[in-house]
Amino acid sequence: TRDPVAKLLLFGATGDLSQRMLLPSLYGLHADGLLPDGLTITGTARHEHDDAGFRDFAKHALDQFLPDDRKDETAIEGFLARLHYQPLDASNVDGFAALAEKLGDISGGLAIFLSTAPWLFGPTITGLKSAGLAGPKVRISLEKPLGKDLKSSQEINDLVAAAFPEERTYRIDHYLGKETVQNILALRFGNAMFEPVWNARGIDNVQITIAETVGLEGRAGYYDEVGALRDMVQNHVLQLVALIAMEPPARFDGTSIRDEKVKVLRSLRMIGPEEVNTHTVTGQYDAGAVKGEIVRGYDEELGKESDTETFVAVKAHVDNWRWQGVPFYLRTGKRMTDRHSEISIQFKPVPHSIFADRGGQLQPNTLVIRLQPEEYVRLLVMAKEPGLDRDGVRLREVPLDLSLTTAFAGTRRRIAYERLLLDLIEGDPTLFVRRDEVEAQWTWVDAIRDGWKANGTKPKGYASGSWGPNASVALTERDGVTWNE
Ligand code: BG6
Repeated sequence: TRDPVAKLLLFGATGDLSQRMLLPSLYGLHADGLLPDGLTITGTARHEHDDAGFRDFAKHALDQFLPDDRKDETAIEGFLARLHYQPLDASNVDGFAALAEKLGDISGGLAIFLSTAPWLFGPTITGLKSAGLAGPKVRISLEKPLGKDLKSSQEINDLVAAAFPEERTYRIDHYLGKETVQNILALRFGNAMFEPVWNARGIDNVQITIAETVGLEGRAGYYDEVGALRDMVQNHVLQLVALIAMEPPARFDGTSIRDEKVKVLRSLRMIGPEEVNTHTVTGQYDAGAVKGEIVRGYDEELGKESDTETFVAVKAHVDNWRWQGVPFYLRTGKRMTDRHSEISIQFKPVPHSIFADRGGQLQPNTLVIRLQPEEYVRLLVMAKEPGLDRDGVRLREVPLDLSLTTAFAGTRRRIAYERLLLDLIEGDPTLFVRRDEVEAQWTWVDAIRDGWKANGTKPKGYASGSWGPNASVALTERDGVTWNE
């Protein structure tokens, strides 16, 4: 049951995320007639804008970040008319009364989107509570980083929980807003053919790669404190693991799906000080060429020496019946050869090859789920090369291809935040991360970081434009497995 709010309040409204993602996404929903009639959007930040100033700011953001074919003058006008603004120094509780006054009557429901610096979480929650902006009609959405380890994330969660109960707390992992990520559920549970082999009997190993070509992108202050494990694995990569490894939920709803995901996250085998050096690889990019462009190394880009990892590869295990003995190879990095996110499921070989005596070579099947930039599902199967086979049977791997772009041509690809913002406005928590999931994720990630610390593990250099340090290749090759590229 959908329960739309009448007002939306954006903290950090003049920030980078707001310009690039939130305002364009809200515009997209408005232009398609998906926002509730009369929904107002109030922005707040330290900038001293008035309503008109914020509308100018938003117009500029749309000019810059909307694709040309989405720019419609009338729709833009209509969207800007929904916008309001109230300047606020969130570190000072006094300003919240004026914010509440600006918002006026919130009896029709209020959704709050918090994308602010982590140290402002506390004062913001306190301010909201003191100004009566945390009552039963209010839901809140939190953007990362939600802490830097289990302890700090629990502190934030406790703080939020003191004002907003879990069912009104919407934690964002923007990967869950991606159409292709949601499609994992459709593929697994909308088809009967995969599930019977989706386990240790049918699957040899699972690989998940989130490769990026960008470097620090002007986020040095944040990134250098965090590193790849916490920036990408703790959230996005582990959510993908959960969706791939979860048991079939009974229903498509927030409780059923998240109950199954959290079981997977809690079943991740801990990687402690004894295992970190054999089960993880960390790297930091050196100078090199990415897609033909010469780029600087991490330390030079940062302007100081640092031990922060920009690449991490992990050999993980999900310790339950379904996945016993199946490695999940995970890797993510900046300044890699190519930008793509992909899940590759490597199936077991056939139990007996009838083609061996005729010289035919078989490859085990692979299912590739490409999340971005292309969107496809590709099953690699063996086929016979046409011919008379007098010199033996020739078999070749050929793709059974489902291109989502072609299959759903004419359907606009939405920004992940469109889906998430609409679900927030309408009150559907299914694609948001529950507290127990976040905490299970941190528990596993903290153990790895403790292991690195205990072992004095430092990232290995890798050339920008490569697939990471050589040790990452060795991580899978040792098991006779090659990263899918
Ligand atoms: C963010 C990370 O959560 O995800 C960034 O903080 C990263 O470092 C980004 O670049 C990747 O998102 P996407 O949607 O471009 O794959």
